Amino acid sequence: MSEDQYPDPLDGAQLDTLAIRAGIARSGEGEHSEPIFATSSYVFDSAADAAARFAGEQPGNVYSRYTNPTVRTFEQRIAALEGGEMAVGTASGMAAILSTCMALLKAGDHVLCSRDVFGTTTNLFARYLGKFGVQVDFVPLLALNQWRAGVRPETALLFVETPSNPLCEVADLSALATIAHDAGALLVVDNCFCTPALQRPLALGADIVIHSATKYLDGQGRCVGGAVVGAAEQMTEVLTFLRTCGPTMSAFNAWVFLKGLETLRLRMEAHSHTALELALWLQQQPQVQRVYYAGLPDHPGHELAARQQSAFGGVLSFEVRGGREQAWRFIDATRIISLTANLGDAKSTIVHPATTTHGRLSPEQRAAAGIGDNLIRVAVGLEHPDDLRTDLQRGLDATV
Ligand SMILES: Cc1ncc(COP(=O)(O)O)c(C=O)c1O
Repeated sequence: MSEDQYPDPLDGAQLDTLAIRAGIARSGEGEHSEPIFATSSYVFDSAADAAARFAGEQPGNVYSRYTNPTVRTFEQRIAALEGGEMAVGTASGMAAILSTCMALLKAGDHVLCSRDVFGTTTNLFARYLGKFGVQVDFVPLLALNQWRAGVRPETALLFVETPSNPLCEVADLSALATIAHDAGALLVVDNCFCTPALQRPLALGADIVIHSATKYLDGQGRCVGGAVVGAAEQMTEVLTFLRTCGPTMSAFNAWVFLKGLETLRLRMEAHSHTALELALWLQQQPQVQRVYYAGLPDHPGHELAARQQSAFGGVLSFEVRGGREQAWRFIDATRIISLTANLGDAKSTIVHPATTTHGRLSPEQRAAAGIGDNLIRVAVGLEHPDDLRTDLQRGLDATV
């Protein structure tokens, strides 16, 4: 019996096991930890072998813009975690979104995109795809009637992020999948905030999952990267775009992400646990006007998040009493939490959305999106909750 006739020992394995073991292909040196294949090209056995590999008649590596064994291990692991047929590693989260669009859209196509996505995603659709004849309309994440009314015969793709940043609004992925499929379009979900440890959009009907691996997949704020996951038919198109146009993932970054993935579920549970504890505490503080976190029972998306996700994630936001001055005083008074716009790190981060991540929106657009001058976002890390509470208390004291 040859090895590939044995059943795969990971068939039916749990997420924790897949996060540690999926995609491993030992090199023959007996290494236990995954090696980094730091090579740009590969040698051939003969001229005939080179010709066959170039022609695609024989499997095997040719050049690291096409394939790299370390990147392949990352791709197979993230595909297993998301429950997708195939994944493609990319140079960044934005490269994942761009590659998906370039591979699957053409001039004349129409896209419906959530209004509440990462600002650079909005720019990519509005500023760049528009130049190439792709039309885009932006719809409030929760307005299902506007999604239904917004699809056209030429709508090819619906794009959402859930929970949203920074207000933690929760989209109904099954309902959006139905709207997309009734229109003959694909539902693409940026799953960066939840990761497959908390939410698996493909199982809820989505067609494609996007990741900024820079965030929780790495989990330690070290490398920039991304991934696209979905059916082999579409992912082959995405891979062909990457091979041709070049925004591929580096082997080093893939190796770092593989190590990050090993602890993904444990980290996501800890982020979620501490974020809930802090959200409940913040709600009790007189200097806080409102807390946005889907783990809170009074959050409008709580029930849906409880159905769709296995926990509520690490990002929360809140409004302090006052305006921009009070919010800035709060932020400047914290001493443990890092003032940086990234998230998904073991180190907690704090940011003022109105003047940073959402600073390019007009005051009217910010008001429509519910981003007030007194809003603060915290991406809760893995420090002890008591120390984070002490740091947030410094912020609260500075507002009065
Ligand atoms: C939800 C979301 N998607 C995509 C991206 C883009 O990812 P990257 O910075 O890896 O290009 C980000 C980055 O902050 C993000 O927050």
